[in-house]
Amino acid sequence: MTDRPTIVFETMDPLFRHALSGYLLRTALVLGLPDLMGSEPVAVAELARTAGADPDLTARLLRALHGLGYFHRIGPDTYTHNHLSLLLRTRSGDASAEVVSGFLKPEWMWPLWERFTDAVRTGASPFSSVHGKDFYSFLGDHPQVAENFNRAMTLSLGPTNATVADALEVSGHLVDVGGGQGALLRAVLERSPTVRGTLFDIEVALGNVDPELLTGALAGRCAVVAGDARESVPAADAYVMRLVMHNWDDDTCVRILSRCAEAGNAGARVFVVEALRSGGLSFVPLMDLQMFMLVGGKERDEDEFAALFSRAGLDYVGARPTASVFHVIEARK
Ligand SMILES: C[S@@+](CC[C@H](N)C(=O)[O-])C[C@H]1O[C@@H](n2cnc3c(N)ncnc32)[C@H](O)[C@@H]1O
Repeated sequence: MTDRPTIVFETMDPLFRHALSGYLLRTALVLGLPDLMGSEPVAVAELARTAGADPDLTARLLRALHGLGYFHRIGPDTYTHNHLSLLLRTRSGDASAEVVSGFLKPEWMWPLWERFTDAVRTGASPFSSVHGKDFYSFLGDHPQVAENFNRAMTLSLGPTNATVADALEVSGHLVDVGGGQGALLRAVLERSPTVRGTLFDIEVALGNVDPELLTGALAGRCAVVAGDARESVPAADAYVMRLVMHNWDDDTCVRILSRCAEAGNAGARVFVVEALRSGGLSFVPLMDLQMFMLVGGKERDEDEFAALFSRAGLDYVGARPTASVFHVIEARK
């Protein structure tokens, strides 16, 4: 038996898959195909009609996505969801839907990636030149985008709150800097009945704070303060920042840590909670670039955090893993 001769396109198939997959997924998301596909198998012609799309091109798009591992093909031009395509739904009511709505589907995200080559050449994050203002100012002008972003943070990080709270050793007054809607602070306060908390974030992030912190059982031990951590933070015995440092370049991180060093009470503890770059998690290098594109941020390793603490005049203590993807990286005043 002779080997079947191959053509170079077969050899290059993995490259085409990687190169085209973003465009294909973007179009499927914008047309709403994953949301329109229910739990029953659906004919492509019907799906295309509901989506207001051309049936022939919709069939060809689904065929290509199926080749990439999305959707289950159960007959000629009849599909249903598989485990990967289920993650593309924005109306599933779970955390993946929030992440898709917040990060993968939005039309404001894609022009950033069109500037990625320039960004790699220059080292400059494209957000401000594409949208005319930095990401967080953009959120201030687009309340719906801000709501999606803040909810995506709360829901996607929710499963880690307990393990992160367990890994923090706090007493006295804790400020959650850039604490978003307050789910982590709530977990800490629920565990530690003598700890007082302050949820600190920019105004636009505080629109839907966890009601338990505002009017619930924890309200008596919790304040909510709007402010810019680059300028000042409230005095406290401890600060926690989860996924805040990865928003910023080194100089801005040092600026925020310096505000903690200035405002912190004697011996104040500073807990940075991040996924370390060398932790072996395949999503971290992707998140590293995503943060760069949005806010000029980056993922870091322990020695880089130690250097940031040192520049801010804080004494580095060490990094310890939690039962989640995050490490707690600690310094003291
Ligand atoms: C990736 S989110 C993390 C949210 C939260 N720490 C959590 O773990 O759920 C980054 C947070 O930093 C906040 N942030 C951005 N700029 C800030 C600033 N200048 N001062 C304080 N917080 C800021 C954002 O509003 C957002 O809530």
